Amino acid sequence: MEKGDCQKLIREALKAREFSYSPYSDYRVGAALMTKEGEIFTGCNIENAAYTPTVCAERTAFFKAVGEGRRDFAAIAITGSPAGRMSQLSWPCGVCRQVMMEFCDPEEFYVIVAVSEEVYQVRRLKELLPEGFGPANLQKGHSGKE
Ligand code: THU
Repeated sequence: MEKGDCQKLIREALKAREFSYSPYSDYRVGAALMTKEGEIFTGCNIENAAYTPTVCAERTAFFKAVGEGRRDFAAIAITGSPAGRMSQLSWPCGVCRQVMMEFCDPEEFYVIVAVSEEVYQVRRLKELLPEGFGPANLQKGHSGKE
């Protein structure tokens, strides 16, 4: 990932975090998902009084993009912290990693976790979800190897 692309995606994630609807946890998350063509779809976490319908920022971004016909993704930036200034690296939850696994090549897809445009870390999905289960497993004749 080029530094400029990372920083652009982080900026978009930080903007999306402003829309976080998180009155119960006060934990605000923004995400920005980039397609292989360079389009960006953003998302924030959206909580609910019944708690379990809550959706994470990452999945909001994925479902917006997939819901508009995009399925080829290059990278996602994630910015999350308690309300107020960004203060921590907020790694994606296990459910969101599994959703990434559905649509992304784990050896190619980049996950950028950021505090700011200057303070961030980049991982491949495979590093965050090693030995993952994905669409390939459901294909007949799948060897169990990569
Ligand atoms: N959250 C996310 O948006 N993404 C994650 O990967 C972890 C957690 C949200 C869900 C909930 O609204 C709040 O953060 C506290 O868990």
